[in-house]
Amino acid sequence: MDFEIEKLPAKSIYNLLIGLVAPRPIALVTSMNEAGRMNAAPFSSYNYLCTDPPVVGLGVMNKPGGNFVPKDTARNIRRTGEFVVNVVTEDLAQQMNICGTDFPEGMDELEMAGLDTAPSKNVKVPRIAQAHAALECVEHATIEIGRSRIILGRVVGIYVEDQFIDPAGPYVKSEELHAIGRMNGLGSYVKTQGAFMTIPRIPYEEWKKGQR
Ligand SMILES: Cc1cc2nc3c(=O)[nH]c(=O)nc-3n(C[C@H](O)[C@H](O)[C@H](O)COP(=O)(O)O)c2cc1C
Repeated sequence: MDFEIEKLPAKSIYNLLIGLVAPRPIALVTSMNEAGRMNAAPFSSYNYLCTDPPVVGLGVMNKPGGNFVPKDTARNIRRTGEFVVNVVTEDLAQQMNICGTDFPEGMDELEMAGLDTAPSKNVKVPRIAQAHAALECVEHATIEIGRSRIILGRVVGIYVEDQFIDPAGPYVKSEELHAIGRMNGLGSYVKTQGAFMTIPRIPYEEWKKGQR
């Protein structure tokens, strides 16, 4: 089936894109408003974009309802310039989903989800205490595109629980961290526990030897 973007309603484009750009990592983003009120919300339009300097990107749509009101996360980051990406692992899946509910203003997502905060090292915004890893970020830029915002965050600190780090690299013990990914928006996620395969990179010299 071919889909012409020009003829598709926004919801269909959303459905198709998020089903095809998958699995996606999930950033459970903590941010604070000017008064220091905490906010937490998951975003799967998320990835790292470069490592030198270390930059992550988030795609944040407006609040539902067509009134061009930015989601609290985007608003907070614009106003205070800081946020934390808490890595979503299998044990945090249900709590993450609760944080994704569009609660009316004044309701605390972290409290609703039974999550606690722990101080960050490099930014004022705390990380989630139950998260096994977190990226402390400062806003590099927010780019407004139509009804969405692309937020670029420079990573200024990385927290990982000791048990998930192999200090030799250092490498993340990804097989043990059990991060989850989001699939098509129908509530589908993938687990990574027991699902790893290893494909080593092929140095060119080795590749040549294998050719006839
Ligand atoms: C797994 C998951 C991923 C999500 N990814 C996005 C996303 O990438 N962009 C977005 O705008 N909303 C996304 N949402 C919806 C937001 O999390 C939701 O609108 C949230 O209430 C926004 O909160 P805020 O207004 O406090 O920022 C996602 C929800 C879930 C459950």
